[in-house]
Amino acid sequence: MKVEVEYLEFMWPMRHFLLTCGDIAGKSNIITISFCMPVSKEPPLIACAIGKNCYSRELMKNTKEFIVNVPLEEMKSKIYYCGFHSGYTVNKFKETGLTPKAARKVKAPIIDECAAHIECKIRKEIETGDKILLIGEAIEAYADEAIVKMEKEIEYAKGDFPRKIYSSRF
Ligand SMILES: Cc1cc2nc3c(=O)[nH]c(=O)nc-3n(C[C@H](O)[C@H](O)[C@H](O)COP(=O)(O)O)c2cc1C
Repeated sequence: MKVEVEYLEFMWPMRHFLLTCGDIAGKSNIITISFCMPVSKEPPLIACAIGKNCYSRELMKNTKEFIVNVPLEEMKSKIYYCGFHSGYTVNKFKETGLTPKAARKVKAPIIDECAAHIECKIRKEIETGDKILLIGEAIEAYADEAIVKMEKEIEYAKGDFPRKIYSSRF
């Protein structure tokens, strides 16, 4: 017998990424996303589904850029902070203590504490449902040497599906 289920539960485990956007010289922001995946190797494209009403979406309307920052295992609480608070009301760099640092080719800052950074230029936007799918071309990708040498651990989602998080609206 087959029974009805919440589809997201069967997409688990998903990764968590900290997207940065905006302009380091002006307003910049961090958003936690898990709806993020590679969608082409040549050209190198990444698709991110972003809530239509979130602050990050507003910033990216202007800059057409974002950075996918890959968090470390020890950054779990910051991942959740950036996923439960909006840049409309808080400065997430200030509140988390994460360090914004100039990126190589885009105006948004990287999060210095993260393991790796993929700088992207938005090439296409697709309306889905409650999200906009942003297709970004990866124009730069670099990582902390300690990660490449496997001296630090990247964050991977573990354990049971966190139903509470994914049943809340985001
Ligand atoms: C674990 C986790 C995963 C999330 N994944 C996404 C996602 O893939 N896309 C999205 O738009 N929001 C996602 N969110 C919610 C946003 O991070 C949240 O709405 C955030 O407050 C938006 O911030 P902003 O208004 O500063 O842009 C996620 C939240 C958590 C905790």
